[in-house]
Amino acid sequence: MRVLVLGASGATGQQVVRQFINRHIHTRILIRKSAVLPKDVLENPWIEIVQGNINEIKDGEMNHLLRDCDVIISCLGHNMTVKGIFGKPRYLVFDAITSICETVRQRADRRVRLILMSTIGYTNTLSGERNSIGEKIIMSIVKLLLPPHRDNVKAANYLIAEIGRKDDQIKWVIVRPGTLVNHDEASPYEVCESPVRSPIFNAGTTSRTNVSHFMAELTVEDSLWKKWESKTPVIYNK
Ligand SMILES: NC(=O)c1ccc[n+]([C@@H]2O[C@H](COP(=O)([O-])OP(=O)(O)OC[C@H]3O[C@@H](n4cnc5c(N)ncnc54)[C@H](OP(=O)(O)O)[C@@H]3O)[C@@H](O)[C@H]2O)c1
Repeated sequence: MRVLVLGASGATGQQVVRQFINRHIHTRILIRKSAVLPKDVLENPWIEIVQGNINEIKDGEMNHLLRDCDVIISCLGHNMTVKGIFGKPRYLVFDAITSICETVRQRADRRVRLILMSTIGYTNTLSGERNSIGEKIIMSIVKLLLPPHRDNVKAANYLIAEIGRKDDQIKWVIVRPGTLVNHDEASPYEVCESPVRSPIFNAGTTSRTNVSHFMAELTVEDSLWKKWESKTPVIYNK
């Protein structure tokens, strides 16, 4: 098995990479030139490093990036700086996901599983989720004012509505954590089909360690994958 991790230099991405190192799984990571990663990761024999920016990758290069990868995990997210939030690329995540899916579809024999790290702020209306009026108002304001949230919504909508459940080549899971926190150790967590509390007024917390553990388990445990395939699980620390 080979996994491709995008956003591998990020706070969650780095922990995802560690999950695969610990499981002895070949992992390709795409990182920008400026990215900082610990030496033991950079020099790890299970890690293959490709340097580049996902938004500048051309078609042929994307083919090369996806070569032999069974699972693709996106932990991409806009840097929390003025430039990262309001500058280009506005659709970092959406553009990466669409480009991956289009490249996969160019070769009929290619099959991938795609895990998208999203947010509890995404409402899966197609599966019947509804927000209260107060939540709707705040979410509309956030979507209007914060381009990264629009990007997350657009990327998830694309997988749900455009790729859907019946695609032979691309299978997906969209993972929705609550407010992300950093804990060194894994801890008990629960995974629910939909939010069990208000995503706006009481989002709950999720440690990046637990998100990375869940995504790694989805990758290696076929029964867990089958349970969540084409779904948008919400993960909360217990
Ligand atoms: N904060 C929260 O409470 C929360 C809650 C739920 C979900 N989320 C979502 O979870 C995701 C990951 O969160 P995180 O905190 O782990 O993110 P993060 O630490 O900010 O990592 C973001 C990753 O994306 C890469 N990236 C950013 N801008 C890029 C660009 N222009 N081109 C190429 N790569 C770029 C970064 O690369 P560099 O290292 O090179 O910058 C990094 O690897 C985000 O989508 C976020 O919206 C966040």
